[in-house]
Amino acid sequence: PKTLPLKGKNIIVTAGPTREKIDPVRYITNHSSGKMGYALAEQAVKLGAKVTLVSGPVTLDAPRGVERVLIESAEEMYHEVMARFDAADMVIKTAAVADYRPKVTHENKVKKKPGEETLELERTKDILLSLGEKKVNQILIGFAAETDHVEEYAQKKLEKKNADMIVANNVKTAGAGFGTDTNIVTIFKRDGSVIELPIMSKQDVAKKILAEASTLLRDDLKQ
Ligand code: PMT
Repeated sequence: PKTLPLKGKNIIVTAGPTREKIDPVRYITNHSSGKMGYALAEQAVKLGAKVTLVSGPVTLDAPRGVERVLIESAEEMYHEVMARFDAADMVIKTAAVADYRPKVTHENKVKKKPGEETLELERTKDILLSLGEKKVNQILIGFAAETDHVEEYAQKKLEKKNADMIVANNVKTAGAGFGTDTNIVTIFKRDGSVIELPIMSKQDVAKKILAEASTLLRDDLKQ
């Protein structure tokens, strides 16, 4: 029988949004549904991988055969991913991680006050950047959700985050990005190659990404 391209490989996929609490009733988040990341987890299992899906709050069920770790905040996602990184062969960072969180999380509901209110924010940890600094042999795949200058920003992310591949999607384009069942992506690889894909289902986009990624794993083995 044909051997599966990702057989025995440990893959971490992150998916969904993160939630950054203001108080017990309010939080900051984004539009990620988890569909793109869950499709990657599902397809990776079909290719033989052992998949850990570190997921923010979404309404999707865990795909069959996937070990799911549920988190809420960017800080929790950081810890769950970092703790598993040494044992991983590949990390795919599909999650839409909040870049900022409230400086203070109030223990009780914040009451309305007359006058203008300001919410003070601070940066969250950049998980992809931390992985890029720490990586040894792992294949690191990031996403780039952009609304303009997609190619320029994606190329910059490839460099700055020490990633092997950046999957860019223009989240303003119909049929691409948040919430939809389809996506339109361009893959930027470290060797300089650029693969522009037409609109396709997130499951098919996932297959393409994993096909590209598995060639990188094989290249690694040759070295
Ligand atoms: O979930 P869906 O509804 O299916 O939508 C899919 C998607 C639009 C969320 C997905 O295709 C996508 O683009 N994911 C990345 C979203 C994002 O946060 O992009 P970014 O350009 O802000 O971040 C770049 C990369 O850095 C991402 O791989 C992100 O996971 C990572 N990051 C960002 C911030 C942070 N603090 N830590 C990170 O690791």
